[in-house]
Amino acid sequence: MAFIIADRLTKTFPGETRPAVDQVSFEIKQGEFVVLLGPSGCGKTTLLKMINRLYEPTSGRLLIDGVDVRSMPATALRRRIGYVIQQTGLFPHLRIEQNIAVVPQLLRWDRARIEARIDELLDLVELPRSYRRRYPRQLSGGEQQRVGLARALAADPSLMLMDEPFGALDAITRARLQEELLRIQQRLHKTILFVTHDVDEALRLADRLLIMRAGRIVQFDTPLAVLAEPADDFVRDLLGADDVLRRLSLLTVADALASDGMNGDHTAHGSQETLNPGDNLREALIRMLRSGGQPLPVVDNGRQLGRISPDTIAAALTRKTHALPD
Ligand SMILES: Nc1ncnc2c1ncn2[C@@H]1O[C@H](COP(=O)(O)OP(=O)(O)O)[C@@H](O)[C@H]1O
Ligand SMILES: [Mg+2]
Repeated sequence: MAFIIADRLTKTFPGETRPAVDQVSFEIKQGEFVVLLGPSGCGKTTLLKMINRLYEPTSGRLLIDGVDVRSMPATALRRRIGYVIQQTGLFPHLRIEQNIAVVPQLLRWDRARIEARIDELLDLVELPRSYRRRYPRQLSGGEQQRVGLARALAADPSLMLMDEPFGALDAITRARLQEELLRIQQRLHKTILFVTHDVDEALRLADRLLIMRAGRIVQFDTPLAVLAEPADDFVRDLLGADDVLRRLSLLTVADALASDGMNGDHTAHGSQETLNPGDNLREALIRMLRSGGQPLPVVDNGRQLGRISPDTIAAALTRKTHALPD
């Protein structure tokens, strides 16, 4: 059974005629990283807030782990769900350690367990333990967001809701935190609902993309599938689905080799640049162009697996576009 089931979930704010979220139904499996993508005002935040019951739905049902969320007290529910927002929501008058300990304290963990947990979480989000005694204003924006993440993870919730958590950060800090989040997810296997209106962030993070427009879901599928077959012109424009480089960034050298067989010249070429199987094809193409457009060898642990040429890349692109599972 799916971990989250939304069944015609609807929210109409008082005095409004049009619902902010309109009969939305979807299922999310445990451990999935789902990114909610859509333009400003399409209902992403409203949908997220119905999941932890900061907003009560006007109609429809929401099950988490088989339990109707309305059958649980809202406070108990929220302690079981990690929540990260753009403005971090850190308490400015509390030290970092106190901020992280908020939920464990509400859950009445004993002191030693809380202390150990704070250290463990600071390590996990790669902040020095010496930051424990600082206040949020004594940290950079990116560091504050790491604390926000640590606080959300504190009581080890199985579900994380993240509402544009990296929206206020500069591009470099943002990319680094995206990497960190993926690394943490590989270790902890949370179920994550992550809101963004940044397409590249969405494509980088998502197992599946849930694309919204005006309160409704227009497409819910893997990044590759959505890019290859956008449901309509709105999705096509939103994702820039005609952008070949964007599609290449979702395919790896290994994908291209697998579909191209192992033919070609496998002799090593001394000083030449090489590719790894895990490199994405956008990166591979850039390196190939820099090397004068010559095919580049793919090397894994000193063994040459094959070569990537402009033709291999073109072939991988067409194949992935036309041979997707539904
Ligand atoms: N508390 C509220 N009261 C009334 N209208 C709201 C409230 N919150 C959001 N809305 C409206 O609901 C729609 C969806 O908003 P929101 O979920 O915040 O969008 P998003 O997060 O996708 O930018 C918008 O039209 C917004 O103005
Ligand atoms: Mg929002």
